[in-house]
Amino acid sequence: KQVKPFDYVVFGATGDLTMRKLLPAFYYRLLSGEVPDSARIIGTARSPLDRATYQGRARDALKRFVAPADFKEAQVERFLNMVYYVSLDGSKADSNWEGLSGLLSEGPQDHVRVFYFATAPNLYEAVSANLHAKGLVTDDARVVLEKPIGTDLATADEINTGVGKFFKENNIFRIDHYLGKETVQDVIALRFANPLLSAVWSGDYIKSVQITAAETVGVEGRAAYYDTSGALRDMVQNHLLQVLCLVAMEPPASLEADAVRDAKVAVLKSLRPLAGDRLTSDTVRGQYVAGEINEENVRGYLEELGHASNTETYVALRAEVDTPRWKNVPFYIRTAKRLHRKVSEIVITFKPAETNLFPQAPKANVLVIRVQPDEGLTWHLSVKDPQDDSFELRDATMDTHFGPQFKVRYPDAYERLLLDAVRGYPVLFIRRDEVEAAWRWVAPIMEAWANGTVPMSQYAAGSWGPEEATAMLAEHGDTWHEAIHRQ
Ligand code: BG6
Repeated sequence: KQVKPFDYVVFGATGDLTMRKLLPAFYYRLLSGEVPDSARIIGTARSPLDRATYQGRARDALKRFVAPADFKEAQVERFLNMVYYVSLDGSKADSNWEGLSGLLSEGPQDHVRVFYFATAPNLYEAVSANLHAKGLVTDDARVVLEKPIGTDLATADEINTGVGKFFKENNIFRIDHYLGKETVQDVIALRFANPLLSAVWSGDYIKSVQITAAETVGVEGRAAYYDTSGALRDMVQNHLLQVLCLVAMEPPASLEADAVRDAKVAVLKSLRPLAGDRLTSDTVRGQYVAGEINEENVRGYLEELGHASNTETYVALRAEVDTPRWKNVPFYIRTAKRLHRKVSEIVITFKPAETNLFPQAPKANVLVIRVQPDEGLTWHLSVKDPQDDSFELRDATMDTHFGPQFKVRYPDAYERLLLDAVRGYPVLFIRRDEVEAAWRWVAPIMEAWANGTVPMSQYAAGSWGPEEATAMLAEHGDTWHEAIHRQ
């Protein structure tokens, strides 16, 4: 279970992602016995900190982001012993590279070496070039790339080509943390380990698919990044399209990385390009205005920013996968900041029976895969109403909650992914052609939005999004899930 000893060099080590996600993830895997004590986590950033100061910051991060019951002094000490720091500007050739080389060469030479880039993506090529020039890219060294890989196809291509000059493709691990979520991987298990589901997983039985990633947070401290990105680039191009791929892909030949990635890229390539009228009828973009979330008043996006902006905080799209399996099945995908509650879920709505014996037509069967929170499944089924003698039907739900059922903590997505890079196991990482196919599909949407073809809708913070998104589904006789099954 334990991975090989490693040296994990994190560029961007003082940043929010390192503090909030990476350090807690390593800590949890140390607790679970998967990280050997001789492993080293070497933070690098421009700030001139010494090791002890950085260890202090790492301790504060654990205090904030690890559950209080899991913050155990002796274990924290063990963890901090693994943490090092080198003050270094990775994008500059004349920075303190001796500091990093020194640290790497004085450690055991059989450690797996991983570089994690959590800096601005336009620096990835320069950092790779410097690592290479300093002789630090050993044959087996891996590099993990955080998103966003570019802001469009051309910039993604530049980054991939740039990094590709110094690392082999099979040593490049592009993170999409949604793939690290247990319940996202469950889509594979549910579909291919349960004949009950495999048998009905197509447009013969499925009427529509909804994929939602709703958040209650606004842009927090990230406005400078977010305002140049928007929800389409930040969430759809990567996370939501990856989830869509798992839902829609043909059975892969095996669970080997390339078999799964071939199956996913085939889906991305079969997405019907949005063009012409469909850009206005099948895409909705919106910005939140002031409203109330959990009984607190919150400001609108523009008020938070303090200036005008054309960046969307809400996206809803109607996508189509042009394969025989999914003929005429809409895939509705949406994501937004400042919605009613935080929930990521996949909703599969089945077609009604062809004949009906009952006084009223039964409601559609629905399977909800709850990605987060409260990981689990809900089936909506029809049963006989026990208070009625004429076969009236009632909606019954069948719920499972994986956490309590398995009595396990659901880990953060990064835990798994950080160690998969050490294991050299790339199945949950994105191959270059996937990134590119995803950018290709969103390109016409970005273009239509940039030139104003699709108006910017508004929605109140704390709502479920703009009316236009409700209307988009109504056009096709569909309804967003929460409007039927939830308050
Ligand atoms: C990140 C986005 O990739 O995913 C954030 O940049 C977003 O804007 C986050 O908040 C959502 O992740 P999760 O795991 O909380 O659904």
